Amino acid sequence: MAANKQNGKRFSYYIYNTMVDIFDRLKKAEGDLGQYRSKSDGYFMFPILEGEIGPHMKFNGKEVLNWSLNNYLGLANHPEVRKADAEAAAQFGMAAPMGARMMSGQTKWHIELEHRLAAFVKRPAAYLVNFGYQAMLSIIDSLVCRKDVIVYDSEAHACIMDGLRLHMGKRFVYQHNNMESLRKQLEHATTLAEEQGGGILVITEGVFGMAGDLGHLKDIVALKKDFKFRLMIDDAHGFGTMGPTGAGTDEHYGVQKDVDVYFATFAKAMAGIGGFVASEKYIVDNLRYNMRSQIFAKSLPMPMVIGAMKRLELIQTRPELREKLWSIAHALQKGLREEGFNLGNTESAVTPVYLNGSVPEGTNVVVDLRENYGIFCSIVVYPVVPKGVLMLRVIPTAAHTMEDVQRTIAAFKEVKDKLDAGKYQSEEMQNMKLSKD
Ligand SMILES: Cc1ncc(COP(=O)(O)O)c(C=O)c1O
Repeated sequence: MAANKQNGKRFSYYIYNTMVDIFDRLKKAEGDLGQYRSKSDGYFMFPILEGEIGPHMKFNGKEVLNWSLNNYLGLANHPEVRKADAEAAAQFGMAAPMGARMMSGQTKWHIELEHRLAAFVKRPAAYLVNFGYQAMLSIIDSLVCRKDVIVYDSEAHACIMDGLRLHMGKRFVYQHNNMESLRKQLEHATTLAEEQGGGILVITEGVFGMAGDLGHLKDIVALKKDFKFRLMIDDAHGFGTMGPTGAGTDEHYGVQKDVDVYFATFAKAMAGIGGFVASEKYIVDNLRYNMRSQIFAKSLPMPMVIGAMKRLELIQTRPELREKLWSIAHALQKGLREEGFNLGNTESAVTPVYLNGSVPEGTNVVVDLRENYGIFCSIVVYPVVPKGVLMLRVIPTAAHTMEDVQRTIAAFKEVKDKLDAGKYQSEEMQNMKLSKD
């Protein structure tokens, strides 16, 4: 029993022993995704794909036609990339350089790659980052202060959402790609920023990685006439794939000058690890000295840096890779649309195939595609898409062939017919997979 004094009166209360062991709680509360672990581990989630990265890999001991990698340009297994990676690993090892860039991890190659990246995306300066996700948290954290207001697209990637959590000031969300909604939020943000003596940062994506639609950069930039704000884009899926030279979605729209901070990861078209942020030199210098996820983390290893230079060189000198990606993406999207599939508003290589069905039906679709058609792609279900909707997320790459495209369209057509006929309603197929657990 504990005692306390309030308004001059003594009162007592009991402290009940409500403490729990954290580990006991975690046994039951597995989390949003973890709740599906027992049914999905190793199959729907954490599947093991074996073999060399590319369209033809092995899953569960069987050959599958793989549409689930963001290896857009097919660079992951490009012979010149493999050679550059191997030579850099042989020359430098995987450890070098040791320490954070600021302390002991700086090299002339890191700096050289930054110059090349900055020139490619037509910005005065660029800075390498270790992982895109972590970097985005710190970019947001470094760019704004408590008085500033962030306005962001409702479908922004998790790294942006998590970066927003670090922001001590206000943030306003606008409906996905809805310019009327953005205008309204900018009005609110302007009032607040004026009151507080702060500024406004708008954040969106170049290519939205789930649905494949583009951030409406031209329209957003046009709002700069009416509002005062800085614009940052996460172009993870646009870098290397969009624009006449592959420099990104802002190049595609012709608005590079008006996108104040450009960010991309090496995890997609570059088929590597790391990423970069590009902007005015004084902004990049500011970020170099303030991004905590980079200051307090080890520098990108040399093979990643040398390997990234080779990848960048191929993006710049082999437009045929991007042309091949687009010919595969267009053939796939055209063929699926002709067969009556709904692909939403994609304008990028990302090809979402929307179907109507329940989550159990969706799992049966995936099992059938993998086990009987030898086709491997990811599935997205409620709550990422509305209830009753299933999305097969198909990622074409320059390494796919037209034969792969035809085979996939034919398989999807059969699967859709079965789905519409209610053939996936039985639990038999799920059990087939579950019995392997
Ligand atoms: C839009 C977007 N931003 C950021 C990231 C994170 O990049 P990284 O894998 O380099 O951490 C991803 C996924 O990789 C992404 O799709």
